[in-house]
Amino acid sequence: MKNNWNFKMVLAITALCIIIASCASNVEEEQMASVEMEEGMEDPTTVEMVSFANQVKPIIDARCVVCHSPETRGIFPNLRTFAEVKARAERVGIRVGNGTMPQGGPLPSAQMQLIVDWVNEGALDN
Ligand code: HEC
Repeated sequence: MKNNWNFKMVLAITALCIIIASCASNVEEEQMASVEMEEGMEDPTTVEMVSFANQVKPIIDARCVVCHSPETRGIFPNLRTFAEVKARAERVGIRVGNGTMPQGGPLPSAQMQLIVDWVNEGALDN
């Protein structure tokens, strides 16, 4: 009878050890996962949006204003300022995206994508 009780105690202690060990290793895995997330910066919820000021305006200044400004060829619409581009944002996205603007040849695909993405993200003054 006493032997049987000892055996049960050993079993119980062994089971307890296994549970504690598995909990500890789970915690470690969770900590590692959160460190990887911080280092990788690939969490889709934190992907940067296209910036008008830093990414879109420099392209428009370089490739569109040469025609779309009263100081240059004066072709409608003017695309000098955020407000002017915003007012035509949908058309800008369509004409850049289908390669018919700038007149004379489409933008490099990375620039084209930036402008199309900016329009799709709501054409923000960001
Ligand atoms: C060489 C001159 C020239 C350049 C450079 C140019 N455009 Fe145009 N754009 C035109 C002309 C001409 C028209 C009118 C004829 C037409 O619609 O094709 C026009 C029309 C437009 C229109 C109004 C028509 C519509 O579809 O709503 C938009 C918007 C436009 N361009 C956007 C752009 C953007 C954005 C760029 C730069 C990525 C650009 N253009 C560069 C000459 C130019």
